[in-house]
Amino acid sequence: MTAIGGFKPPARRGQRPAIHSIGEFVLSVPDLARAQDFYAAFGLHVAEQGATLTLATAGDGYRWGRLVPGARKAMHHVTFHCFAEDFEPLRRHIEAQGVRLLDPPPGFDSNGLWLRDHDGMLIEVTVGVKTSPDEKRLVGWAEAPAGQRNAPYRRMTRPVQPRRLAHILRFTPDIAAAIDFYSRVLGLRLSDRSGDLIAFMHGVHGSDHHLMAFSRSNAPGLHHLSWDVPTLGDVGIGAMAMADRGYDRGWGLGRHVLGSNYFHYVRDPWGSYCEYSCDIDFIPATMDWQSADHPPEDSFYLWGPQVPPEFIVNMEAAAA
Ligand SMILES: [Fe+2]
Repeated sequence: MTAIGGFKPPARRGQRPAIHSIGEFVLSVPDLARAQDFYAAFGLHVAEQGATLTLATAGDGYRWGRLVPGARKAMHHVTFHCFAEDFEPLRRHIEAQGVRLLDPPPGFDSNGLWLRDHDGMLIEVTVGVKTSPDEKRLVGWAEAPAGQRNAPYRRMTRPVQPRRLAHILRFTPDIAAAIDFYSRVLGLRLSDRSGDLIAFMHGVHGSDHHLMAFSRSNAPGLHHLSWDVPTLGDVGIGAMAMADRGYDRGWGLGRHVLGSNYFHYVRDPWGSYCEYSCDIDFIPATMDWQSADHPPEDSFYLWGPQVPPEFIVNMEAAAA
């Protein structure tokens, strides 16, 4: 008898080698104490490790990021994960694309593949756990029976704890070059775009609608790190708690069209953002998402407050 109930869709698909997840980011920041306050308030577990801070999700302890001291905020590198059987094929594929493999940067010795993307950002590709989801985790409403109050007192609100890093959105001067590099070299697929303004890319082995996204600017830079939270209520509670701690600049509550996620962006001390995100679209390994080019005025967000002008400013370009 076929055990239909135990069926799980395959978490990989056979085609050219591709990374499947974001493993970790390493960000340099000018003030580690301010960083510790911000990311801890956001709901991450922040720990000191020598001269760096580590950022982990509280539930599973997974280390998503490291913060290193630097003159200004800048992405030091992003590590992507692949399946073990894809590692050597990826090495050959990357080199066949004319991309030069580099030595690890000082202090980050590893057996990974090191390369630079279309904008010169340092990338590591290594074998690692698949952090991108394998299935959609449906969000439900917590229901109280009729005749009962459903919401707790504010003092009884539990702090929001993001479940995982969902995606990274980078500024780039060249959207077409970003799409070309991340699809041709690393094997991501274009999910959707709005002309040459913004593009969203997903992993072919099952991932959110986007794990990397790109917004056009006059220089490379980090726009936001997006963190998945379980419910829409968590998006609101997270935003409120951050405002209570003085982190009241940002954008939200709203809902995107491309990705469909509910969002609230909190401005970090360096002028980029951390996003509380919930219920983003999922693209299984078994299907080809029909990517399209969408008019920006119809696809940026479905509802939400007016976009603050500073939201689309690339502070790394302003600082350069
Ligand atoms: Fe986002």
